[in-house]
Amino acid sequence: MSHSLLDSLHAAVPALRLKTDPGDLEHYGRDWTRRWTPNPLAIALPGSVEEVQAVMRWASEQAVKVVPSGGRTGLSGGAVAANGELVLSLERLNKPLSFDRVDRTLTVQAGMPLQAVHEAAREQGLVYPVDFAARGSCSIGGNIATNAGGIHVIRYGNTREWIAGLKVVTASGELLDLNRALVKNSSGYDLRQLMIGSEGTLGIVVEATLRLTDPPPPSNVMLLALPSFEVLMEVFAAFRQRLQLEAFEFFTDIALRHVLAHGAAKPFEEVHPYYVVTEFAIGDEAGEAAVMAAFEDCMAHGWVSDGVISQSDAQARQLWRLREDITEALAPHVPYKNDVSVRISQMPVFLAQTMQLLGEAYPHFEVVWFGHIGDGNLHINVLKPAGMAQADFVRDCEQVTRLLAQVLKRHGGSISAEHGIGLVKKAYLDSTRSPAEIALMRGIRQAMDPAGLLNPGKLFDP
Ligand code: FAD
Ligand code: MLT
Ligand code: ZN
Repeated sequence: MSHSLLDSLHAAVPALRLKTDPGDLEHYGRDWTRRWTPNPLAIALPGSVEEVQAVMRWASEQAVKVVPSGGRTGLSGGAVAANGELVLSLERLNKPLSFDRVDRTLTVQAGMPLQAVHEAAREQGLVYPVDFAARGSCSIGGNIATNAGGIHVIRYGNTREWIAGLKVVTASGELLDLNRALVKNSSGYDLRQLMIGSEGTLGIVVEATLRLTDPPPPSNVMLLALPSFEVLMEVFAAFRQRLQLEAFEFFTDIALRHVLAHGAAKPFEEVHPYYVVTEFAIGDEAGEAAVMAAFEDCMAHGWVSDGVISQSDAQARQLWRLREDITEALAPHVPYKNDVSVRISQMPVFLAQTMQLLGEAYPHFEVVWFGHIGDGNLHINVLKPAGMAQADFVRDCEQVTRLLAQVLKRHGGSISAEHGIGLVKKAYLDSTRSPAEIALMRGIRQAMDPAGLLNPGKLFDP
């Protein structure tokens, strides 16, 4: 069956590069969740937009399901191919296409790694401000499909804010040219925005026109040690009131211990239960005074127990490592990941309730808290005890997530702040979206992909 299908694909798109070795099927069939056993039909690596269109025309004719695939750094199972799907990898479409000085836009192919996008923007004296630790491996297409967030959302917003135009191949193989980088365009539904965050279920992003911006003024990075969780949002308010924050990230001592074991340098002699990494512009004397005022205010209130401010770029990078290396440091423990958000104003009460819930629910597991607290986004990672079967561990965690979803619902929060729903969180979509919303989402999916070929089973069941 698979041989005849692949023969027909070869006949339909003769120059298409295909991979079918077991090692390749495994490599391209999973993402960072590593929870599902990969089982794709084959891996298609188109070298042009026309080839993407031809693959989708063939998939439509043959009713073959397709999983769009970027860097597979996703954390919600969105790029997993476990049911005989064709993986359509964008990795060969990885080039910058054009820069427009007047529009200040950079047009790139969807498979371009985020870090390469940063470099291409920098070559033009500008920046593309969405950034996070997977920058070297994730693709801009994957960032768009997940509406990726990261460490600078507090200053610049999510990926959504930076997409001026998109070229998208539909399930039937048509090419859509969405918004064409117009600044103003009130001509009906904005399908570009609909594509952003659609997790490969509405179309395949093949090109993106990105807005760029001026480089930020030189910034400093500060690491703060906090005596308790309750003061976290007070510290945030004290710093935000006085400084233009570029980042405000938090992690616990448990997270720090994993990062130190992974090779980072110890920041303080003493152990503190909580830490914040914050970044802010600081150019002149007034800026320096504002930092000191925020720090002293926090010390005077007993909200901060210690602090260090970067004196060089190297030290700034070292401080950032303490936060950015958490995901890699935890990866060997195959964590069960929660990625939740509430309005920032709801954070103190949500944190207190969640702490209590998880303290009672997870007495037997190690729980690691960190996240983009300045955006109201918390990552709660539960570590699998060595020797425990993955299925048993996930089953236990899911019971707790059901309770967490109820708390989120009460606070009007989201079960996925930035990683997407994928396979991991689809059982909890209704804690964040109303039945009417989900029905409309299904209707949109039905209109754009009536046969359900694109990334089936992700976001919601067919
Ligand atoms: P993939 O994992 O390949 O795919 C993700 C989803 O997008 C899938 O549903 C896939 O089908 C779809 N897709 C991929 N390419 C396309 C395309 N061209 N067209 C249509 N659909 C497509 N995420 C954050 O938001 N913030 C963070 O701070 C963050 N930090 C991370 C740190 C580490 C160390 C790691 C490993 C991951 C992190 N992530 C973070 C998660 C991940 O990097 C993002 O979700 C990223 O956007 C995924 O990009 P990707 O190219 O790897 O996508
Ligand atoms: C992060 O903020 O570090 C990422 O979203 C990755 C993660 O949640 O592990
Ligand atoms: Zn994150």
